[in-house]
Amino acid sequence: MNVLLAVSGGIAAYKSAELVRLLRKQGAAVRVVMTRSAMEFVRPLTFQALSGNPVHSELLDADEENAMGHITLARWADLMIIAPATANIIAKCSHGLTDDLLTTLYLAATCPVYIAPAMNQAMWNKAVTQENIQKLKSYGVTVIGPGQGDQACGETGFGRMSEPVEISQRLLGKPIAQCLQGLKVLISAGPTREPLDPVRYLTNRSSGKMGYALAGAALNAGAQVTLVSGPVQLAAPLNIEVIGVETAAQMYAAVISKAPEYDIYIGAAAVADYSPAAAQSEKIKKQAEQIALTLQKTRDILAEVAQLEHRPFTVGFAAETHNLEQYAQDKLARKNLDMIAANWVGRDLGGFESDQNALQVFWENGRSTLAMTDKNQLSAQLISLIAERLYEKRQLKT
Ligand code: PMT
Repeated sequence: MNVLLAVSGGIAAYKSAELVRLLRKQGAAVRVVMTRSAMEFVRPLTFQALSGNPVHSELLDADEENAMGHITLARWADLMIIAPATANIIAKCSHGLTDDLLTTLYLAATCPVYIAPAMNQAMWNKAVTQENIQKLKSYGVTVIGPGQGDQACGETGFGRMSEPVEISQRLLGKPIAQCLQGLKVLISAGPTREPLDPVRYLTNRSSGKMGYALAGAALNAGAQVTLVSGPVQLAAPLNIEVIGVETAAQMYAAVISKAPEYDIYIGAAAVADYSPAAAQSEKIKKQAEQIALTLQKTRDILAEVAQLEHRPFTVGFAAETHNLEQYAQDKLARKNLDMIAANWVGRDLGGFESDQNALQVFWENGRSTLAMTDKNQLSAQLISLIAERLYEKRQLKT
């Protein structure tokens, strides 16, 4: 994983040195870009020594342009993190202003971009800063923090840069330790089988890998986990309760009876949308040249969970071959979900059966892009996002 760390000028810049160390410890290659004012706080030599690479700072440096111009640097990155992100840098990025290397790289980057804001609490609370943050979020930028507490200026409130350990966990998919401690998570996984007769059924390509990886990530994050699983060839992680089902109707019954006792429901299963109106009790004989099947719509488990009086935080998946965002946003609104994780299916990499996947995650007024990686890492990232949104929703209610 190639991480481009962009450091802007705030007192929290010293924390970014620790971030480099943590990212490298977890196997990432790190290149650092600094603004001029960042260099007032921390010497580039510190980042050079920790990252093992020269620090970039000048947009128009002839040597750097030869070695690695801003476009090459932007292309090199698998993800970009601006930490600390000052109010000034946030304002510039949200308006597309590019008057230095850092902001130019932000505009040139096609990889997922994260920012970790750090500023005085009054500056953070200013309407214009909040508008700029919302704008960046709507462009797909993931905002990490800021945290609350004592600030270098002597004030107290929101504006402290998140701790390096939290940022590195968010970036590299390690779950925030115990972020689901004390919570109960219900997950559906795998395909369903809809019988045509005693020996045949309709099914789909789901292997269960995504749902099982999510169950493992939720367990690692401290949750008590139950998996409602269609027929798959996977062993469940230890300490997870597994309820095996076969048909969409059985999955519906298992999920609906359990869901009110759970804090979170994640529908990762590929549930049949239609099942044969009547399964034959005897094997269908090969006689006619053509036969017609009458299919009946199944009950929508996800939509019904979201309608329960005691509904869990409800997360759906959307598997699409085209119009990914449009269909996912439609499902999010129509099924009244808290969050939806959309993935492409029917392509070479990701989706059904693959060990890897990428997700575009949407919620009301927010989104995040989780880049292609193995399903275990991806699940840890999704679990972190779910925990963050759940706590935000609960805070709003109290
Ligand atoms: O199992 P893998 O091989 O690892 O593949 C992973 C996956 C591609 C199956 C997974 O990432 C995924 O996309 N799961 C959802 C597949 C799906 O059925 O998507 P959908 O867009 O058709 O359905 C939308 C949502 O409604 C899903 O959360 C689904 O679980 C739910 N649903 C659908 C029909 C139904 N009757 N009841 C439901 O709850």
